Amino acid sequence: MNHYLFGAMTALCITLGAGAISAQNRERISLNNDWKFAYGNAHSFEQNFMAGTQYFNYLTKTGYGDGPAASDFNDSTWRTLNLPHDYAVEQPFSPEASHSHGYKTVGWKYPQNSIGWYRKHLAVSQNDYGKKISLLFDGVFRNSEVWFNGFYLGQEQSGYLDFQYDITDYINYGGDNVITVKADAMLEEGWFYEGAGIYRDVWLIKTDPLHIAKDGINVTYNLNGNNADITARINVCNDYFEAKDVVVDIALKDSNGKVVASKKSRSVNLRANDSHLFFEIFTANSINLWSIGTPYLYTLEVKVNNEDVQTVKIGFRTTEFTADRGFFLNGKHLKIVGVNIHQDFAGVGCAVPRPLQIERVKMLKQYGFNGIRTSHNPVNPDLLDICDSLGMVVLEETRLEGINDYHKSQLKRMIMRDFNHPCIIAWSVGNEEWRIESNIFGERITRTIQAYAKTLDSTRMFTVAISGGCGYGSSESIELMGFNYLAQCDIDTYRQKHLAQSGWLTEETSGCGSRGVYFPDSAACHIPQFDRQGGVSIERGFKFCMEREWMAGLFYWTGFDYRGEPTPFAYPAVSSYFGILDLCGFPKDAAYYILANTSDKPIVHLFPHWNFAGHEGEEIAVWAYTNCDEAELFLNKRSLGKQKVPKYGHVAWNVPFCSGEITVKAYNNGKLVASDTRKTSGAANNIVLTPNKSLFSKVSDDIVLVTVTTTDRKGIYVPDANNNIKFEISGPAEIIGVGNGDQSSHEIDHIVTNQPSVAYSRHLFNGKALVIIKTKPGSGTVTLKATSNGLNIGECVIK
Ligand code: GAL
Repeated sequence: MNHYLFGAMTALCITLGAGAISAQNRERISLNNDWKFAYGNAHSFEQNFMAGTQYFNYLTKTGYGDGPAASDFNDSTWRTLNLPHDYAVEQPFSPEASHSHGYKTVGWKYPQNSIGWYRKHLAVSQNDYGKKISLLFDGVFRNSEVWFNGFYLGQEQSGYLDFQYDITDYINYGGDNVITVKADAMLEEGWFYEGAGIYRDVWLIKTDPLHIAKDGINVTYNLNGNNADITARINVCNDYFEAKDVVVDIALKDSNGKVVASKKSRSVNLRANDSHLFFEIFTANSINLWSIGTPYLYTLEVKVNNEDVQTVKIGFRTTEFTADRGFFLNGKHLKIVGVNIHQDFAGVGCAVPRPLQIERVKMLKQYGFNGIRTSHNPVNPDLLDICDSLGMVVLEETRLEGINDYHKSQLKRMIMRDFNHPCIIAWSVGNEEWRIESNIFGERITRTIQAYAKTLDSTRMFTVAISGGCGYGSSESIELMGFNYLAQCDIDTYRQKHLAQSGWLTEETSGCGSRGVYFPDSAACHIPQFDRQGGVSIERGFKFCMEREWMAGLFYWTGFDYRGEPTPFAYPAVSSYFGILDLCGFPKDAAYYILANTSDKPIVHLFPHWNFAGHEGEEIAVWAYTNCDEAELFLNKRSLGKQKVPKYGHVAWNVPFCSGEITVKAYNNGKLVASDTRKTSGAANNIVLTPNKSLFSKVSDDIVLVTVTTTDRKGIYVPDANNNIKFEISGPAEIIGVGNGDQSSHEIDHIVTNQPSVAYSRHLFNGKALVIIKTKPGSGTVTLKATSNGLNIGECVIK
């Protein structure tokens, strides 16, 4: 039964100083391009452009923004850049900097690198006079302050939530306007790399004064067989100075745009400067369900009189966490095999443009994952759209657990922003809150915040991720128990005493390691790829979860390596080892364990590579992950024996090295169904560039990921190549970052714009590097050229 209380919703209704306009539809315009940027300084007014020092400043008199907030401030020497932008990724590393943030020189020790000022000029047409106009920021890290034409709009502490400011009355219509943003990354919100600056999108929103409020469409439904009984709550604001008769028209459209259900509200007389929550109930027949395999989405179009039109994507599905049989999606059992993710990626830091978010989700799906936990913060809204359309379930988490306004409003804003996403199956109210999770405070606080959260969403379950204290504290009041790591709780004993509680592994170890590394090398801060089978093992958590029907699933720590937390090392290691894919999205061997254990097709993956010159005769451990019954290893065509494949395990041989090739053949019922081979290569001779697509799509900022590898004279892939490769690009595109997945690399990921003298280059790390290319306006052919001493040039062409 879906029941929803919308009482807590408040409207963004601010009086508009203008006469009536008619038939104005909503516009959402990207403001990502052409910003000016400069570093300020948290400890020096002089170096912070004297902001806030005038006799009257922005806090003393309205419109008195001074320094960069003043309209006439001269920013001609500032850098020009496009958003999204992360100024932390541009910084050098230092052993003195924050371990958790990847030793980038940002934070309280670096006041000169931590304040970022942004300015953007904006022309607003005279024709827009009378509309309601606002700025929407999807997220700024962090503690941002925003001005418009010198008017102070507000401050937002969270680096993870969106915020919207009304600028209607401050606009210079028909003339120039200036947006100023100050980001302050002196303090950290998390203990992982968080980026800095305007790292998500910025939008100009234009509507009629009679308009749907921000996050003002909320849809719940009950499914009766094939039909959906839908309740749409539409929060409408009247920012006119007179009352309006308001009618809301709702149309539900299928994926072909055909209207399949509709509803017209009764007319409501809405007072000036007031809001009204329309509560419309209607039925849609023969609906298609949203699922992981078929993520069918509908569009709900809402019209307010003839004045505002807004659409949201929705999907119909049922979710049920049972205490004894785990999780059900649309009544079908689904074991969640998910990952935790942080926000950053190779090259770009946290400034991940939407097309790159799409690639990240595709990478995870490709290896069989069906879920994401957004540890430990509200996520970029793009990611949720993508999970909706690609079919991935999501556990979204608020940043800090607590019961006061700071915590409650963040939780509420996250839920209101993301309520309609079918991908979200549960919310998390906190993670490893060590001060409270094992004591009475945790029990109380979790009970209180969960009860509050239920008034915002009674259609989903709430979880909290707990690292210890199973059986007391937060675990006693949360409805859906989140276990962080097998090692931190005797889950079976806990379970015996909590048979009525659903649960899942909100974190579990991935195996960890450095892609392509097979021998320990702590001097280089590299960890070998073989699953260590003890505390750190991809197999252990999977097996545990699969063998317990009651357990809804697990989220590995983590899907991708991320900057910061380079446990068990410290500087010069700068990024984490936990990823099943590296920072570039290149798979570590563990990715194939998941693929083999989730795929319906026969899969076999063999490792390590077979390039061990100098180790002739030494025994090398050779492993295969497969979902087949038996596997047989061949060294230079000679069989080294067939083995039965243990359920949720792997097969292994010790093989004295001699060059040539190793092949594994996998059998089902005695029949050969899959094989995999590793060949000894010679030295690198040719650079090979492999783009993930050969065409840019028509969207304005598309991304192509180019994998850089080498082959020897015979064309055999060289898995241990580490050549330094230089890149040159021509045509209407630019390189926005490079990476190689080496956790202790200090090479430059991202080159600051306006520095044409610096060229992109990167060493291969165990055979691979990545180049991220982004389109510029214009059409034509883009050519990426890669050169390195002694190697044949690599080239790839993208249209
Ligand atoms: C967990 C924590 C994660 C990450 C991980 C590293 O305790 O929730 O955020 O720090 O440990 O092992």
